[in-house]
Amino acid sequence: MRNLLVVVMFLAGISLLVGTTILAQGSRSRERDIQEGKMLFHWKDSPTGIACIHCHADFNEKKEPDAHVRPAHPLFNGGFRAEWQSWDGRKITTLDLAISTCMQRWITERGEDGGKTPAKHQIRQLKAYLKSDKLSPEKKSKPIEPNFTKKLPRESALRVGDPKLGSTVFRKSCIICHATDGSGPAPSLLRNGYSRYQIAKKIREIDNPGLNGLVMPPFPMDRLSDRQLINVVAFVYQM
Ligand code: HEC
Ligand code: HEC
Repeated sequence: MRNLLVVVMFLAGISLLVGTTILAQGSRSRERDIQEGKMLFHWKDSPTGIACIHCHADFNEKKEPDAHVRPAHPLFNGGFRAEWQSWDGRKITTLDLAISTCMQRWITERGEDGGKTPAKHQIRQLKAYLKSDKLSPEKKSKPIEPNFTKKLPRESALRVGDPKLGSTVFRKSCIICHATDGSGPAPSLLRNGYSRYQIAKKIREIDNPGLNGLVMPPFPMDRLSDRQLINVVAFVYQM
């Protein structure tokens, strides 16, 4: 009888040990995924030179704004939505798909028909980062409703922008990709030779030519108003 008790207690002890080791390993590998995901979000030498951070803030933009207003919405508290929003207004059902759509469109190595499919582990790591306590402390998120528009201000309105006000918009919304010395992931816009209309069109993404298989992300109205658009067009036009 006593022997049986010893055996039972011994077995219980072993399984407790194994159980906690597995749990600890699980949370350690999740920690590692979160760290790797954070590095990917800020990926310095991505195949296109573009990383998530060029378009999405990974911090609370309302409470701690930085110098930039990016084209896409912040992903702070964005890890737990019921549905996700794509860059063209399409709704997406899973976070995995939202991440891989963006990776493929802007970040992964370019093949013959655009970006290659991202690696599974990269999606897993980015997802772990987006859902981490630091990035999504509330563990729930409302869906975003970007106001995409294809309607441009009238030609006459595009002509009356203020380049001085526009230079501030440029520093906030464009320079993160279009460094004037050409060191950014997008071309320098110095002496670009575009018409006002062409510049405005780029910003709202009405045309789709794309350089090196890349397309500029659209700025919805709630990230860049028509007034700001008109002013930044005036600035870029005379650069
Ligand atoms: C060139 C700009 C750009 C880059 C780079 C980019 N995205 Fe996006 N992403 C967008 C746009 C535009 C949308 C549409 C919704 C919006 O305005 O946020 C979007 C949507 C999303 C969504 C769904 C948004 C929501 O809250 O419904 C997720 C998640 C997302 N991106 C993750 C990523 C991740 C992770 C990366 C890096 C691997 C990345 N994106 C890189 C532009 C970009
Ligand atoms: C997330 C990065 C990003 C941001 C932010 C961005 N752009 Fe772009 N832009 C690009 C990329 C990439 C291209 C090249 C692909 C293309 O032509 O669509 C481009 C191309 C352009 C072009 C055509 C340049 C050429 O030589 O073909 C213009 C004009 C332009 N952008 C204007 C702007 C303005 C104005 C802003 C700010 C309101 C802005 N961009 C913000 C990434 C960005």
